[in-house]
Formats: sequence, structure tokens, C-alpha cells
Amino acid sequence: MKSTISIGILGFGNVGAGVVQLLNENRDLIERRTSKSICVKTIVVRDPKKYRHLDCGNAVLTTDAIAMIHDPAIDVIVEAIGGENPAFEYICEALKLGKYVVTANKEVISKHKKRFFDLAKAHDSDIYYEAAVGGGIPLIRTLKVGLAANRIESLHGILNGTTNYILTKLNDEGKEFGDVVADAQAKGFAEADPSMDVSGLDTAYKLSILASVAFKADIPVSEIPYEGIESIALRDMQLAAELGYTIKLLASGKQLSNGKLSFKVCPTMIPRHHPLAGVRNEFNAVFIVGNAVGESMLSGRGAGSSPTGSAIVSDIIDIAFDSHRTSLRNLEYAFDKVSLAHESELKSQFFVRLLASDAPGTLATIATILAHHQVSISKIMQKPCTNHVAEIVFITHSVAEDSMSSALIGLETDSVVQEIVTKLRVGLDEGDPV
Ligand code: HSE
Repeated sequence: MKSTISIGILGFGNVGAGVVQLLNENRDLIERRTSKSICVKTIVVRDPKKYRHLDCGNAVLTTDAIAMIHDPAIDVIVEAIGGENPAFEYICEALKLGKYVVTANKEVISKHKKRFFDLAKAHDSDIYYEAAVGGGIPLIRTLKVGLAANRIESLHGILNGTTNYILTKLNDEGKEFGDVVADAQAKGFAEADPSMDVSGLDTAYKLSILASVAFKADIPVSEIPYEGIESIALRDMQLAAELGYTIKLLASGKQLSNGKLSFKVCPTMIPRHHPLAGVRNEFNAVFIVGNAVGESMLSGRGAGSSPTGSAIVSDIIDIAFDSHRTSLRNLEYAFDKVSLAHESELKSQFFVRLLASDAPGTLATIATILAHHQVSISKIMQKPCTNHVAEIVFITHSVAEDSMSSALIGLETDSVVQEIVTKLRVGLDEGDPV
């Protein structure tokens, strides 16, 4: 690698600006550490006039992405535009030219990682994506390098800052979901259209990336069942707290004892004493169990200009050291053939909140239906309601997911039950084979 590394940046929003700012702010430190000078040569934007007031150093602003990618003086392309297209096309073009690519784009990495790794291998280039999951938290490098000696047994993560902020405020402020989302939008913690975050899709993309580094599994997002937090009510949060839990949007990946892998994203009740329960506001965290290291947790800011800039610049610094274009860290070049567990093979504890007639025999009926489907109750409580309606809340022992689904159908179709309001998984032990 040359003594000066030239960077071209695609996009100058929050992410691109964070990279330029950090490279300027820590220029001396980075030069001392790498013995190289790292300079931003070109930034590709839609409308250069919009950025005239910003300090871009000596960088030239242009609208021509393809010309920038083909510029022989540019060594590293930072893709900071997000979304699938045209990012996919630009990354492929850069890799085919033998350039290094650094991206924060979870969607494009999740969907096309295999293609990118193959292109990088064929053209002696490489792609780095530390910023795509967990923002500034060094998750990818930790899994690839720091924990490389381990077989990862399980990984549970809070990977979306927006939803964690919303759930924290739901818990702390006693407001309903819609009001908390409006507040989060007003404070800049949620997008004007927060659907990708709230639906769990953003978390599923990130989990599919972690699956590749932690389990060497190429799992498309379409094979990761995901649920969002849209249906979590303030009442669920209050009852969870009363029972000693908090609710988090949890991404889970687990190696089952039968060798199969299980991945899912769903709101989950986590015991208050678990380290993930203390991860608040816009923070992200991943709790990893490796067969040698045991339990380990990384936590930090999962988004934002500066944390994302931190991850991108650390990738650029890695490239500065990589003088032979052989990043041995891309263990995903060889994905393992894996089998995914079917939901019918999984077990979990469940929390159920339902409304039923407040009449003699109701609890007996509910208990009978649950017993008929092999669902055992661990805790149950009834809350007074109006008009002869009772709110009944129970937590099951660990049960087969199939049994729980058929028990819920049994409850729904019985005349004593008016409505099953909420069903949530409880704890982190889900995924053991039935
Ligand atoms: N929208 C994401 C979040 C940030 O709220 O965590 C980038 O992935």
C-alpha cells in the first residue's frame, strides 16, 4: 500500500460527513498509527451546491459516481448512500476494479454479501462493513478476530437504536406507543417513516450479517422470521415490570444441540437482572456465548454520524495495514452448509395477556385448555377489570412453539376468552430442540 491512501466517498449525509470530520479531527493520531496519510480526494453528491457551506478539506465534490470509482488515484471507496440500489452496482464496480470498499450499508451487505466476497476474491480486493451492524460497536471485528478461537453457541442482540429508544421511553414515561414514537421523531431518534426500524426488518438485516460472521452461515433475511414492536402496549410494559422483566426487540442466533441453527427477531421479555435489560435508549448491545470465552457483552451507540464514522475509519485504518490485499479476516469466503431449525423444533417460555369473562370456572377452563396442549403455567395473575371482564396474564414454562400456537387457538375459540391481547417470548433460552 502507498504512503498516501486516497478515499472516494459516495454520499455526504450523516455518515459521509462523520467520516470526513473524524479523519480531520484525528488526522495526526491516524497518521502516527498507520505511518500513512489518509486523504479524502472526491465526494460524490447529488447536488454539490447544497454542500458549499461545509468544510470538505481538499476534497472535490462531484455528481459522477462511476468516474470517481474509476479514478486510478482512488484506493478506497466509502459507500455511504445506503439502500440496495445504486449501492450494489457501485460496490460491484469498485470490487471488479480491485478497489477496497468500506460500507455502513446493512441492506446491501445482508442481501449481496456472497456476491461481494466472491468478487473481492476474484479481483484481489476486499470489502469491510464494521459500521453496518451496531454502528460504532466493534462487533464484526470482535467476532472475526477477537473470538475467532470460539465456536459461537448463541448471540442475542439489541441491534436497533430507534426501537430501543421507544421501548425505554414506553417503560420510563408511562406514555402509549404512538405518543412515544411522535416524541422520538421530534427528538431525531426516529425517522419520519420509522417502519423499517419498528417492523424489525432493520434488525433482521443486521442479524443476517452477524449470522455470517458468527456462524459462517449465509442466511437471507427472507429466512429470518421477524416481528416488530408495533403491538407492544404500555400495559404490556407495566405488567412485564411487575413480573420482573423488561421488553426489548431481540435478535437471536443460536446453535441447537442437534446441530441446527435458529435465527429470529422478536420483542422479548428479558429478566431485569440480565445485562441486556440494562441497555437503554438508543444504545445497542450484543450478548455472545462462545464455547471458550463463555458469556461476553459489547454495548455502545448503534447509529449516528460520529459512532458510524468511528467504525468506517477503523476499517480504513485496517486497510492501511493490509499491504498484501489479503484480509484473512473475511472468514465468510467459505460459508458452511447449515440447516435451519423449523419453528416446530423450538421451545420457549411465553407471556400471554388475555381478556376473559370474570365468572366461575374461567381459570379452570384456561388451565384445562393449556394442559390439553402440554402447556404448563409458571406464573399466573388476574387483574380486576370492568363489566365482568378479567385481564388474565400468565407466563408458561418452556414449551414447544407448536404446542403454544395450538393452545392459543384453543383459547381463542373458547367462549370464556374474549381476546388474546399479547403473546411474547420470555427469556433468552429459546431455541432448544423439542
Ligand atoms: N435506524 C437504525 C437504528 C440505525 O435505529 O438503529 C442504522 O442502522
